[in-house]
Amino acid sequence: MLWKVILLLMLALPTLALDNGLMRTPPMGWMSWGRFRCNTDCRNDPKNCISEALFVDMADRLVEDGWLKLGYKYLIIDDCWSFMSRDNKGRLMPDPIRFPNGIHKLAHYAHDRKLKLGIHANMGKQTCAGYPGTMLDQIETDAQTFADWEVDMLKFDGCYSNVNEQQKGFPLMSKALNATGRPIAYSCSWPMYRGGLPPSVNYSFLGEICNLWRNYDDIEDSWESVMRIVDWFFQNQADLQSVSGPGHWNDPDMLIIGNFGLNMEQSQAQMALWAIMAAPLIMSNDLRTLTGEARSILQNKAVIAINQDPLGIQGRRILQDEGHIEVFWRPLSKSASALVFLSRRTDMPYRYHSTLSLLNYTSSSYTAYDVFKDETVSLPSVNTHFTITINPSGVVMWYVYPDKSFEAKCT
Ligand code: GLA
Repeated sequence: MLWKVILLLMLALPTLALDNGLMRTPPMGWMSWGRFRCNTDCRNDPKNCISEALFVDMADRLVEDGWLKLGYKYLIIDDCWSFMSRDNKGRLMPDPIRFPNGIHKLAHYAHDRKLKLGIHANMGKQTCAGYPGTMLDQIETDAQTFADWEVDMLKFDGCYSNVNEQQKGFPLMSKALNATGRPIAYSCSWPMYRGGLPPSVNYSFLGEICNLWRNYDDIEDSWESVMRIVDWFFQNQADLQSVSGPGHWNDPDMLIIGNFGLNMEQSQAQMALWAIMAAPLIMSNDLRTLTGEARSILQNKAVIAINQDPLGIQGRRILQDEGHIEVFWRPLSKSASALVFLSRRTDMPYRYHSTLSLLNYTSSSYTAYDVFKDETVSLPSVNTHFTITINPSGVVMWYVYPDKSFEAKCT
């Protein structure tokens, strides 16, 4: 009798949780949509159209320009890769002119370079850009096609589907991906189509079936868009902060650093706030033409280490000051933490005075490492006054760690 129960449990388990062991820290990589959208005009714009050539270029850049070494390993094909109809067996197929060697070959190209390949599909009649979608009865076929192509991640969107189809389709795809036997990370856009908040969104269930999920609107190439997203996530932190963790992350959308909408201060701010949010670091820019400034922000090792902290605890906004300064805090492993001071001012660099005790720190002696300035500040007590200068729409980001000597004295 007991063995029957155990057998039943074993059979049932893989269908209960997305137990794929993937994305224990927020995923890092590059995705096409933010920068290249649905540009399919390869005849007139061959360097910037959604094509095999574009992904090969980005794969080369990821590897040769040091991105992969830092953790940026996912190369993700967003919408507009497919042909307008399915093949005679009902399978999705890539546009044969723009992807002459097919997705499987592209996956090999990525794997030979130790990258992972991601792809986009859509629960519903059509993708948001009008390409073939995945209806409920096509989910297993599509999951198997992606596994046959040796794809490593699926971004599953939700345009042109209703509440019931989404309710069935997103869990079904999770199950179907698991059933292929290939570990495929699963990004669900489901919450974004349901307003992003409980009770319409059941985050504990999502955590069982998806590795990450888009909660909110698409990012645009502007500071206003970044701030709208930041405001929404932190205004709703009571609902959102605790649902994220190793293997299952909130996704405030791509990093747009290196494009046209953000200056250097704002680029640092996006990077810092995405690190505080334990957000995926998925860039969408042109790695072939990135400026040195954008590169240095995106490749900042300390910010990446904060984002990738193994505890995987999402941070919170802890203070909104009358002077239009906001303070964000994230607990990290080894009793460390990260602080971000954001200026929403538009006048001039602002001198901000505070102490760690005002930011809820209790007795210890700390060192703060300013990750963008590459300087340390010593804070012998939580009551030590400090002053920092924060530029308009910029940040100061600190990695704060307790002094060993102080700890030794106390034990
Ligand atoms: C939706 C998604 C975007 C992108 C587009 C593609 O808008 O949220 O990230 O995938 O579809 O059409």
